[in-house]
Amino acid sequence: MRIAMIGTGYVGLVSGVCFSDFGHEVVCIDKNADKIDRLNRGEVPIYEPGLDELMARNTAAGRLSFTTDLAEAMKGAEAVFIAVGTPARRGDGHADLTYVYSAAEELAPLIADYTVVVVKSTVPVGTNAEVGRRIRAVAPEADFDVASNPEFLREGAAIEDFMRPDRVVVGVTNGRAREVMSDVYRPLFLRETPMVWTSLESAEMIKYAANAFLATKITFINEIADLCEKAGADVQQVAKGIGLDGRIGGKFLHAGPGYGGSCFPKDTSALARIGVELASPMRIVETVITVNDARKRRMVEKIREALDDQLAGKRIAVLGVTFKPNTDDMRDAPALTIVPALIGAGAEVRVVDPQGRKEGEALLPGVSWMNDPYAAAEAADAVVIITEWNEFRALDLERLRGIMRGDRLVDLRNIYVPESAREAGFVYTSVGRV
Ligand code: UDX
Ligand code: UDX
Repeated sequence: MRIAMIGTGYVGLVSGVCFSDFGHEVVCIDKNADKIDRLNRGEVPIYEPGLDELMARNTAAGRLSFTTDLAEAMKGAEAVFIAVGTPARRGDGHADLTYVYSAAEELAPLIADYTVVVVKSTVPVGTNAEVGRRIRAVAPEADFDVASNPEFLREGAAIEDFMRPDRVVVGVTNGRAREVMSDVYRPLFLRETPMVWTSLESAEMIKYAANAFLATKITFINEIADLCEKAGADVQQVAKGIGLDGRIGGKFLHAGPGYGGSCFPKDTSALARIGVELASPMRIVETVITVNDARKRRMVEKIREALDDQLAGKRIAVLGVTFKPNTDDMRDAPALTIVPALIGAGAEVRVVDPQGRKEGEALLPGVSWMNDPYAAAEAADAVVIITEWNEFRALDLERLRGIMRGDRLVDLRNIYVPESAREAGFVYTSVGRV
């Protein structure tokens, strides 16, 4: 089967590479010629474990290629995926659909034989139908259908999520499109992956509802964590105790500095906007957004309190700035709120992150980038863990403490056992535990 993938961002690239690994012939298209040149040289523009190897293997097998030429890529393609970005629009927080619609209008005149145009970008309810109308307006005779195929990939685990998904959601309007989409995902049938066939509108809604629910779950446990601190309970025991209830489930119950990333912040705010527009307010989601934003700022106070209410003149080593481990993505990372506030209050900040420097350098002016946690901790008053990279999970705490001039360890991801940190000589602060 021949597939064209428009947009080689995070989602487009992972999806294109994985489809080629299914055995399909995939051409990825991007407007950014520099990116395409790099991809053609075998360079992977993002950090995602396993992606480089999978890309190299499928390029070598002749199943995967990259171009800026949409017409060339669409020749013979039975399915054309739109996986361009849908950033939150400045001002109103609504998903910006400019790139989705322009991709649709550009591909419209290139449709030759029957083609399914598949929207993979996260888009508000009604967008898929509008994509169909816009294609029809440009190319009234074109033989095509629109399908909605939201993705549920976690950065850092995207390949596993693509190859072994909990489910695949596809919105279609007729059997002909369904047949093509079945062929696209046939390799997953062998693994008995549940396929959820829906309308376009339900598929669009599933994506937003899933992400909003997960963001709510995290925000819920974060508030419980705050309460645990006041009440003398341990949020990790609470999470375990509630998570073992099958109706609740143990995942996404890690308390921390608040969720970030390319999806949860953008999708929750888009869903809240959809609610306002359709006069069906999403009050829970609105509250989740407010609580999560406030939480990132509140983490600065937590660090200030740990340093006896004094940030000015303090040297702070920050471990981890990406929004989560195993990615170089800095989008809406809690560190982007926390680190500038520390600097603004007069602290000196030294940062270590296994992958974050490339993106982070421009976003975090005024920090010193260090190569390892011990170097960063030299003569520091406090070490603050913001992202739980594996590299930070097994530090020699006594050595770390010995290098510092102070003794404060603020662990915003609860990766250390309080007793061991204290035994190593630290005054230890974590989240939802005393
Ligand atoms: C994706 C999805 O699109 C978004 O809806 C989802 O919620 C999160 O993941 P992402 O892949 O992270 O977004 O977007 P981005 O990194 O911005 O990449 C988009 C790519 O499309 C860029 O390489 C851009 O150059 C390219 N593009 C954009 C085009 O080729 N053509 C366009 O018209 C617009
Ligand atoms: C998410 C969804 O999981 C994925 O299905 C969707 O398609 C895209 O958005 P991603 O943003 O890559 O994926 O990462 P995820 O692992 O979901 O983490 C999002 C944020 O929540 C991170 O900042 C993470 O640190 C935080 N988080 C996650 C918590 O604070 N606690 C948790 O228990 C889980």
